[in-house]
Amino acid sequence: MGSNLARNLASREGNTVAVFNRSYEKTETLITEHPEAGFIATSSYEEFAAALQKPRTAIIMVQAGRGTDAVIDALTAVFEPGDIIVDGGNALFTDTIRREAAVRATGINFVGAGISGGEEGALNGPSIMPGGSAEAWQTLGPILRSIAAVAEGEPCVTHVGTDGAGHFVKMIHNGIEYADMQLIAEAYDLLRRVGGLEPAEIAEVFAEWNTGELESYLIEITAEVLRQVDASTGKPLVDVILDQAGAKGTGAWTVQTALDLGVPVSGIAEAVFARSLSSKPAQRAAASAMPAAAAEWAPDDRAAFVEDVRRALYASKIIAYSQGFDAIVAGAEQYDWDIKKGEIAKIWRAGCIIRAQFLNRITEAYAADPELVALVTAPYFTEAVAGALPAWRRIVSGAALAGIPTPTFASSLSYYDGLRADRLPAALVQGQRDFFGAHTYKRVDKEGTFHTLWSGDRTEISATDAH
Ligand code: 6PG
Repeated sequence: MGSNLARNLASREGNTVAVFNRSYEKTETLITEHPEAGFIATSSYEEFAAALQKPRTAIIMVQAGRGTDAVIDALTAVFEPGDIIVDGGNALFTDTIRREAAVRATGINFVGAGISGGEEGALNGPSIMPGGSAEAWQTLGPILRSIAAVAEGEPCVTHVGTDGAGHFVKMIHNGIEYADMQLIAEAYDLLRRVGGLEPAEIAEVFAEWNTGELESYLIEITAEVLRQVDASTGKPLVDVILDQAGAKGTGAWTVQTALDLGVPVSGIAEAVFARSLSSKPAQRAAASAMPAAAAEWAPDDRAAFVEDVRRALYASKIIAYSQGFDAIVAGAEQYDWDIKKGEIAKIWRAGCIIRAQFLNRITEAYAADPELVALVTAPYFTEAVAGALPAWRRIVSGAALAGIPTPTFASSLSYYDGLRADRLPAALVQGQRDFFGAHTYKRVDKEGTFHTLWSGDRTEISATDAH
């Protein structure tokens, strides 16, 4: 990804890019393979710093973790106040907050920038989510704008907020990516197991869906994956790929952070857990003989069933984005970032993995009401979910009866029903908490905090008398 980003930078008018890798061999290979880029090869940090115009800008692309700290230290030693160090990896935003403060103390700017789009995006135009200071953005903005993807004439980059804001938003992007992928996988599973469609046929269904409101990069590539036939066995490739999903951690970070912030990102969490469950072969083998007590599900009208799955997917996707944006709002409040939600939706329209037509609707929703309390409550999304509801319920209940796991479809529907409920059984939870821990409760009919004397005469007292 780093070399592709460097090639992207070098291809822009007026740019000369110096490159450095700890292994000089890799640098040489890059230079030899891409003479058109006109790279300046450097073999030490000193040489690299000397090759750059001031104020210097360096973009680090290394595996997130301790390696990043080592590179930052090395660059800080050879850079000068006013220079800029950009970390373009998938760093944990709290690391970025820490690094930004430490580097800023030297007078050098540090910018944590989320970069999405994989290797191809890095080369042809990624979606970029930079944090860091406004001062650094002055210099960095034009550079990043020149290499970013373009959506409807606008570059997919904006100054997200200070210090770790960029990496925070990239983390949420990845959380949504996990949910989106799992939702598509559940739709595929239903189309195959209930609809009786073969992978190549499902590829056609996805290609068709990609022409409507579900249009997105992930739907598009899913069709490609499902069309692929394995050369050695002649089977659909998807049938010979081991069904254990990997993860590098950004989805788990999203969920851990959301737990800390108290934001229910249940769809994203289920997507992370679905990968974890898939990767437990011993447990799966041990459980494989357990009873299903499942009913056969054979819809009479296959086309209607396919349409139900599409609607359930769309509604669940709206929930995943709504939850992701809730996490952004909570993060912005907690860390004091001025994040413009509509701008984030805009820069996700092209270049990144979750790019989708539907992001325009999110931008419109936040433009109409910047203080929107939950994306799903915006008129467009409320209407979209309402239209999908009967289908969504048929799919989730049908899958439960048939014994087909749909963790993200089901949890998203449950979240929706929870959110719209007049009364929740949380009242009973409060009663239980008060019973065993005197944790007190509030009442619907009067002000104050109360406790029932559960082990005494069970009268209610004001919480000031409770312990
Ligand atoms: C992107 C991707 C990219 C990547 C992650 C997630 O935006 O370009 O999100 O960052 O695919 O590494 O990978 P895992 O699925 O392995 O966690």
